[in-house]
Amino acid sequence: MNLLTVENLTVTLATGSGDAQAVRNLSFSVGHGEILGVAGESGSGKTMTALSMLGLLPYKGKASGSIKFDGREILTSTKREYRDIRGKEIAMIFQDPMTSLHPMLTVEVQLTEHLRHHRKVSKDAARNSALELLATVKIPEPAAALKAHPSQFSGGMRQRIAIAMALACEPKLLIADEPTTALDVTVQAGILKLLHQLRTDRNLSVMVITHDLGVLSSLTDRIMIMYAGSEVESGATSDLLQNPRHPYTKGLIAALPGNSEVNSKNLLSIDGMPPELGNFPSGCAFHTRCKFAKASCKETVPEVLNLSSDHRIFCPVNPFSELSNSGSK
Ligand SMILES: Nc1ncnc2c1ncn2[C@@H]1O[C@H](COP(=O)(O)OP(=O)(O)O)[C@@H](O)[C@H]1O
Ligand SMILES: [Mg+2]
Repeated sequence: MNLLTVENLTVTLATGSGDAQAVRNLSFSVGHGEILGVAGESGSGKTMTALSMLGLLPYKGKASGSIKFDGREILTSTKREYRDIRGKEIAMIFQDPMTSLHPMLTVEVQLTEHLRHHRKVSKDAARNSALELLATVKIPEPAAALKAHPSQFSGGMRQRIAIAMALACEPKLLIADEPTTALDVTVQAGILKLLHQLRTDRNLSVMVITHDLGVLSSLTDRIMIMYAGSEVESGATSDLLQNPRHPYTKGLIAALPGNSEVNSKNLLSIDGMPPELGNFPSGCAFHTRCKFAKASCKETVPEVLNLSSDHRIFCPVNPFSELSNSGSK
């Protein structure tokens, strides 16, 4: 059984011009010890998907559908139950590590209070656990680090401390929302390696959210691509990256640095901007930017097309099937 099974998740947000769906009929799962990547341009509903799992949607935000975690439905949880879930089962880290850290309190105060709150342990035991956690996230000289304030660390080290905070409650699932977006490339690689290590050492399940598909290639087991609040394609990482079948996924991959050759054919580049909340196009929301769109794409919401047991797309046109089958890129 999967650790997380989300079915038909729809998130409705209040906007200036009425309610609008930021996430639409989204279904996906994360297995025990699995790393799922979620990618798509800004505004595709990635963060709202994550926040709905923690009961942290913005004011007036509503989620419907089903979120089963460890065998039980959590979408209907009360505020108090969600507090418990955030404390013990699902932890989240953000693009800005200072979202979860206090700038003025020492790392020791923050980590030990967090540990004592969640694990009900003595001060000494909490301090020892804090030292262990800092070593786990590979902070050099953990004892010295305990005495420092978060503001004394670099961005990459701060993100490591935020990960230590997240691990304090021994979650089964860690959601990382753009965890490396603010970091430079070498620091980014270190954080991704750490997440990978945590999965291996602790059988931690991880959901990594990013607008940058390149971040996911070496880290994830599976990837789900989102556009305008819906899944457009998902599959095992190597399959999806080497044999993408949705025009949007193809475009995202062609836009990655190093793929300029593919890009120069210009067939796959994606022009235009993603639609704004409340103005999602009818039918397949991507039809307004899709070079392969047919008249029917404007009318009909695409149904799932299973290409294999673990690779699916939401595109009836599927323009690349012949290209892929003949083996050409
Ligand atoms: N508090 C809010 N109220 C209304 N709309 C919001 C709020 N926060 C985000 N949105 C909108 O919801 C949509 C989805 O946002 P989000 O899930 O943050 O996208 P992503 O993480 O993929 O960039 C976006 O159009 C965004 O502008
Ligand atoms: Mg986001």
